[in-house]
Amino acid sequence: MDDLGANKIFGAVLATALVILGLKQAAEMVYAPHKIEKPGYAIAVAEDTSGGGEAKADTPPDWGTVLPKADVAAGEQVSTKCASCHTFTNGGANGTGPNNWGVVGRQPGTHPGFAYSSAMQDFGKKTPAWDFDHLYMFLANPQSYVAGTKMSFVGLKKPEDRINLIAWLRQQSSSPVAIPAPNPKAEAAAAGAGAAQTAAGKPAPSDAAKVAETGKGEPAKGAPVAAAGGSATGTPGQTGSGAAAAPKTASTSPGAPPK
Ligand code: HEC
Repeated sequence: MDDLGANKIFGAVLATALVILGLKQAAEMVYAPHKIEKPGYAIAVAEDTSGGGEAKADTPPDWGTVLPKADVAAGEQVSTKCASCHTFTNGGANGTGPNNWGVVGRQPGTHPGFAYSSAMQDFGKKTPAWDFDHLYMFLANPQSYVAGTKMSFVGLKKPEDRINLIAWLRQQSSSPVAIPAPNPKAEAAAAGAGAAQTAAGKPAPSDAAKVAETGKGEPAKGAPVAAAGGSATGTPGQTGSGAAAAPKTASTSPGAPPK
């Protein structure tokens, strides 16, 4: 009996030791992959800058140049993504978000009867109006442009979606904000920044899910490449003109800058 008792104690001590060892092992397993991940991130950043990727592509365009030729009807189409939370009609009701009739030129956080977040109210204090630039930046990624906003919308990644939408938004107003005169210099700079992005991203559909669904053109190629993932490093070379799947595939592999 005494032996049994001693054995129990001994067993408990042993088990504890094993648990401690196990934790150590687990900790090492957790930390090891982190060391591997870091260089990966470094590469991604390097490629972003060299490719003139997101940061530059998100420079607002020259509104005097792009607004007159924007596709307003396409912009209205984009606005359906907002319709679950916003009305855009004159005197429309507030919903999850405020009524946005006349939002272009309106001071942020000031539509009557809507309970804005303090983040949006603070933004309004330092921002006299939702002008084209502010809307362009906000709609790309609301949560990062107005940190703490309660607009839980992922954002519109494609610049032309935002431009078309803003062109349409501008018209949802009793007195639309004037379009500024074109500034060819600014447009040249913006177009230059966008060029790299266009090369990589123009035929890219709006989201990855769509590619999987439609797989237009070459479903046979698209599927296996996507499945092969990182191993098929060579395949993204097929960035052909119309290949809907190609830019997407490239972005999954370490190649292209993220959309
Ligand atoms: C999931 C709901 C939701 C969706 C979808 C959504 N919004 Fe919003 N939006 C909000 C909320 C909530 C606010 C108020 C934010 C705050 O108070 O922080 C807001 C605020 C705004 C504002 C600021 C209005 C003001 O008076 O200052 C603009 C502009 C705006 N949204 C535009 C859009 C556009 C354009 C879309 C579509 C591309 C969109 N939103 C999609 C919920 C949404």
